[in-house]
Amino acid sequence: MSAQDALPEHGLPADQVLQQLRSYGAADPHYQSGRLWSLVYYLDAEHDGFLQQAYASYASANGLNPGAFKSLKRFESEIVAAAARLQHGGPETCGVVTSGGTESCLLAVKTYRDLARATRGVRKPEMIVPTTAHVAWFKASEYFGVKLRLLPLDARLHADVSKLESMINRRTVMILGSAPEYPHGSIDPIEAMGAIAQRHQVPLHVDACVGGFILPFMEMNGIALPRWDYRVPGVTSISADLHKYGFAAKGASTITYRNLHLLKHQMFVATDWPGGVFASPALLGTRPGGAYAAAWAALQHFGVDGYRDLAARTSEAFDRMRSGIEATPGLRVLGEPTGPLLAYGSADADLNIFAVGDQMDAKGWLVNRLQFPDGLHAMITAQHLPVVDDYLRDLREAVATVRADPTLAQKGRAATYGMMAHLPLRGVVRSKVLSMFADSYRAGGAPLDLEAAGHDEGHAPPLLERLAARYVAWKQRRA
Ligand SMILES: Cc1ncc(COP(=O)(O)O)c(C=O)c1O
Repeated sequence: MSAQDALPEHGLPADQVLQQLRSYGAADPHYQSGRLWSLVYYLDAEHDGFLQQAYASYASANGLNPGAFKSLKRFESEIVAAAARLQHGGPETCGVVTSGGTESCLLAVKTYRDLARATRGVRKPEMIVPTTAHVAWFKASEYFGVKLRLLPLDARLHADVSKLESMINRRTVMILGSAPEYPHGSIDPIEAMGAIAQRHQVPLHVDACVGGFILPFMEMNGIALPRWDYRVPGVTSISADLHKYGFAAKGASTITYRNLHLLKHQMFVATDWPGGVFASPALLGTRPGGAYAAAWAALQHFGVDGYRDLAARTSEAFDRMRSGIEATPGLRVLGEPTGPLLAYGSADADLNIFAVGDQMDAKGWLVNRLQFPDGLHAMITAQHLPVVDDYLRDLREAVATVRADPTLAQKGRAATYGMMAHLPLRGVVRSKVLSMFADSYRAGGAPLDLEAAGHDEGHAPPLLERLAARYVAWKQRRA
């Protein structure tokens, strides 16, 4: 699109614009059919339409000033109360609605950095997070200048809690556990972490961005899960996303705290600004009313029964998926996932899992890649139950195809991923990714072609494919 078209001289009729808008979506992932295993938590057209109506009713409303839109403040209070109920919070539990999981994670780091500074004078803050913590925690570390100390994984890919105590020092401002962690779907040992956190009087945040609106319902359905919420002494705050398993519209998450004393350190107050006395509870200024309304509407519409039903269907899809993968020779489930997500890798050295991923892509599935160890990822929802068997059949075929032609490991995205995951020069990977990624942000620039770039969520560039090809050729020459 030319710069001229990007802002037409004369406005276009609404119909024409809407038609164009819809046509732009034609090349987007077809999440409606259950072929996408990340990014979107979709149920059906009816629920989507319901969310759209709720969103549209408050699309222009602004939660910036909670005194102005009393409706939005009410939605926020009730959403926080619902989250607190599910998390077994007490009468002191408090919290705010945020724009998503990342904002909730960033806020926890800011809160605990400021708490440690105010109460213990900590000037060079550190936080301890398992290696499997979501990338949002790495971002928070960079943004807020809180040094990351990585808790290693044990042989089962669980956060190795036996190493935790020795990593705590007087600079430690917080410890993190996840329920579940994004890469492999296991719940970190929160009870053991909580006991250590309490002993050292260090806050423990639980990242339940994925699990917050499904684990409680799985438990209600009779599934035995390790404890991860406020029932665990030592847990001081929890993030839980509505726009994932809460099946709300995009732009809604929560962060709750055990008490107001903690939450106060999240808040910002300016008393001397010429624009007036200003108070803000979270990162954003203007806060989107539509997202709050849709999140509140989803909670009201599903209720406990509805969410339990969604959780039951998700658990069934998860169980079928796990046993189907385990029954496929050459594949293994990574770690010990509790649901709703899982990851799998290759069980024998001759089978390249990224090449299997390429075959799955070719069959129309959209699956994320993992590294350390190499793997494929599936964020399973109720929507996947009807397609699990098709997925597993295609997966068996994909494995057979890759076994029959091992050169597939040196082609396509498999080569890129192999290189990115195994190249020891992480700085080279970082600088190539950064330059390609930044380049796609030129005004009017073409969208990043993720297919060509060969990386779903980390956005790696085609340049890396050339680098990968050279790397693979070099390895072959040496072999
Ligand atoms: C465990 C965990 N925390 C945080 C996030 C970040 O959430 P968002 O993408 O809504 O910012 C994710 C996203 O997948 C996640 O899996």
